[in-house]
Amino acid sequence: MSNTPLAPAPVASEHMDLQARNVSFSWEDTPLHWLPGEPFAGHTINVLHLLLPAGERWFVHVYKQVLPYITDERLRADVVGFIGQEAMHAAAHDDVLPHLGRLGLDPTPYTAQVDWLFEKLLGDRTLPPGRARTWWLMERVAMIAAIEHYTAFLGDWVLNAQELDRRGADPMMLDLLRWHGAEEVEHRSVAFDLFMHVDGNYRRRARTWATAFAALVFLWQRGTRFFVENDPLRPGAKASLGQFVRAGRRGVLPSTGAMLRSIPTYLSRTYHPSQEGSTAQAAAYLASSPGANGGVRP
Ligand SMILES: [Fe+2]
Ligand SMILES: [Fe+2]
Repeated sequence: MSNTPLAPAPVASEHMDLQARNVSFSWEDTPLHWLPGEPFAGHTINVLHLLLPAGERWFVHVYKQVLPYITDERLRADVVGFIGQEAMHAAAHDDVLPHLGRLGLDPTPYTAQVDWLFEKLLGDRTLPPGRARTWWLMERVAMIAAIEHYTAFLGDWVLNAQELDRRGADPMMLDLLRWHGAEEVEHRSVAFDLFMHVDGNYRRRARTWATAFAALVFLWQRGTRFFVENDPLRPGAKASLGQFVRAGRRGVLPSTGAMLRSIPTYLSRTYHPSQEGSTAQAAAYLASSPGANGGVRP
């Protein structure tokens, strides 16, 4: 397979052994509008705290079931490292939510819906052992590969989003986002490699990308609206697509053009996640991240 011209082409030098890092963040000094003058962009990014805890625990739940299907020892080690990192990410984002609640923005009405989505709709279902159960496991493995395309995209974006520094983003929040983003870049090939190893069917890859993309757009715009419309510091504020596009132009969110270009990238038959982003840049950030190195406020 790997010698055919239309097979994914990994960049071997981008691989590295994965480790879960203990991190420590303290939120008491982080304001609700942690990105000064950009409440819409801040809330759009805050949606990560709503989606990731449930989403990443779901990754871990699915991957524990797929471990017996892995026959390659290096990939198994990658998946175990991935599970450790994602469990840590979920816990770190979870810790932000009570702080948002203390600042007057209780996220539980929204997180209850997200928990239902991942635990019930995307959960194990009561399928008998055999083809149906395997089919559903492979669908979810493919969906995770598609979602990880976007977590890697966002990780690469946040590592390079100098505009967040220029606008005076809260250093603790920026460190959480960049520590997480750097680990997403570091492990960006694992979900794709796992999918290719246990299934690799192109039609499944394309179909589950469409499902994952639609779900992400739906959940993200709902989450952004939830935060913007319940912001106690901006009564009556509304969220709109235009604000998203303009924030992307200012560099405080990913640009719409970059997001659109990432679609054919993932759907290309020669795509491999190691072709995008820089492991060296991620490693450099992780070596200097205050949260990943003792947790002193940056
Ligand atoms: Fe993550
Ligand atoms: Fe990830």
